[in-house]
Amino acid sequence: MKINGIHQRTVWVAQDGVTVEILDQTKLPFEVEIIQLTSMKLAATAIREMWVRGAPLIGAVAAYGMALGMREDPSNEHLKTCYEVLIATRPTAINLKWALDRTLAVLEKTDIEQREQIAYQLAAEIADEDVRLCESIGEHGLEIIKAIASKKPAGSTVNILTHCNAGWLATVDWGTAISPIYKAHEAGINVHVWVDETRPRNQGLLTAFELGSHGVPHTLIADNAGGHLMQHGEVDLCIVGTDRTTAKGDVCNKIGTYLKALAAYDNNVPFYVALPSPTIDWTVFDGVKEIPIEQRTGDEQSHVIGIDPNGQLSWVNTAPRGTECGNYAFDVTPAKYVTGLITERGVCLATEDGLAEMFADLKHPELA
Ligand code: MRU
Repeated sequence: MKINGIHQRTVWVAQDGVTVEILDQTKLPFEVEIIQLTSMKLAATAIREMWVRGAPLIGAVAAYGMALGMREDPSNEHLKTCYEVLIATRPTAINLKWALDRTLAVLEKTDIEQREQIAYQLAAEIADEDVRLCESIGEHGLEIIKAIASKKPAGSTVNILTHCNAGWLATVDWGTAISPIYKAHEAGINVHVWVDETRPRNQGLLTAFELGSHGVPHTLIADNAGGHLMQHGEVDLCIVGTDRTTAKGDVCNKIGTYLKALAAYDNNVPFYVALPSPTIDWTVFDGVKEIPIEQRTGDEQSHVIGIDPNGQLSWVNTAPRGTECGNYAFDVTPAKYVTGLITERGVCLATEDGLAEMFADLKHPELA
């Protein structure tokens, strides 16, 4: 998608053909800065410190981390170390493991002299594939928005609520939850997005930044406003992303998603989750019991980042000194609250059968 009218991905290989470049998402939306990743360890830091974030993007950056690692030392021992360092960066999004497993499986069977070249190739494949999957999610999600628009008076606005950032900044390009919104906007449907701020890290600001850059009308709201808006008919549908979806359709996403789903359920507002298939964890069934929920440092809760009156990027404490802060990064929305899953292959029910029918080959790769 675009920043200041210029097409941009979130991760790419620099002109030297080796260094991996990313947008520093800790500075966005205030400053657009590029960081150069020159080592596997720096790629791991980028994921852990959330210079990059969003499930599909951390998978792609991890794959590039493996490539940087193979450039440093393509031995079997270092291959194992790279995998272990990168997998330990963040625990919840399954795309990280998916990308690392896929890369490891190929590199283990590759001659040591070829590993660097093949690892870069694999990372580029994972990144390009993510772009294709996300664009496809957009096309399938567009049909849902079109159907809702067709039931409203001609030309009226479709109001969509989203939580966190599941736009192009969370993927390599296009995004998951926001991809259908871009497609609808391009198709001339009047869309307006309610953007949850998404405390504690305020990923909603990234969503507002993206939508603003593409001219999509939107309003930034406090995380607690969604229920009120739904009660007053101001939300036609919700679309969110996910970091891990179980084989039965439970959805783990940014903390606060569950409460939005409950409010949507109570108000008969359709609640859709958009995801590429690498976000499905076929080994997990009960999301609440089985998905590890990342807990991050309390200072992300007690502090906010913004621009101070001198125009400087500032980190400000908003809590009484010494307050104990909890920082749960994700929660799980049980499948029963999910109207449907928007995937690259189409929309399916958030059920074991719905997912199995759509992705029989992925659920049972041994039969494919
Ligand atoms: O902690 P983050 O910012 O990495 O969390 C991101 C989310 O929760 C997104 O909604 C999710 O990864 C889906 S992104 C397409």
